[in-house]
Amino acid sequence: MTIKAVVFDAYGTLYDVQSVTSVTDEAFPGYGELISQIWRLKQLEYTWLRSLMGRYEDFSVITRQSLAFTLRTLGLSFNDAVFDRIMDKYVHLDLYPDAKDALTALKGRKLAILSNGSTDMLNALVQNTGLDKILDATISIDSTKTYKPNPQTYTLVETKLGLKPHDVLFVSSNPFDACGAKAFGFNVAWIERVTPQAMADEFKKADLVRPLSMFKALRMQMDEYGWEPDHRISALMDLPKIAKNAG
Ligand code: 2OP
Repeated sequence: MTIKAVVFDAYGTLYDVQSVTSVTDEAFPGYGELISQIWRLKQLEYTWLRSLMGRYEDFSVITRQSLAFTLRTLGLSFNDAVFDRIMDKYVHLDLYPDAKDALTALKGRKLAILSNGSTDMLNALVQNTGLDKILDATISIDSTKTYKPNPQTYTLVETKLGLKPHDVLFVSSNPFDACGAKAFGFNVAWIERVTPQAMADEFKKADLVRPLSMFKALRMQMDEYGWEPDHRISALMDLPKIAKNAG
């Protein structure tokens, strides 16, 4: 088997969605961690529910609506300037520290992003972080008017890159995305950033469960749909070896 392209999920995989906490905590001291977790949980929930309702709105709308939900729920008042400052972080998210080195080491194959993000959001993010110079393509699902893990979204890889699913290594740290990609037919590497042991230890030690621990439990542990990713890795830097071994 030859891997001709490595296709990455963006949010949570190449980009650390937790890096929004720097701005949420600056805007609302003491609430940063809580805002960040509710926001991300709701954002993904809105993608799935809008897909089921047949009421697609692009990811920038969903990201705004889920942030508005979060601030309202927590009883935090805000003006447009505060709201926009928080939103702006979504086009300046931190890359995981090993992202650029891993991508550089994978050169020689096609490298792309396939993300829920809208075209505008993704292009800005990729440009602001310098990945536009490394990636061959940044693919938004927005032309499909639905969200991952709908199989229609994954067909865009063949449409845009001209490659069959078995030629592609799809990389995600989001379990729902890794499972959706596996069900679709990609070779899948799932980044397990929190091991089951580390997760269990976190709950054992805690008197009070932190919002971030709840997030790790709900969104960073492998799901029970019955699909196993082909590879479980702990960091992006594990990818070059996998791609090389696959040919
Ligand atoms: C992405 O599509 C699922 O958030 C994830 O980038």
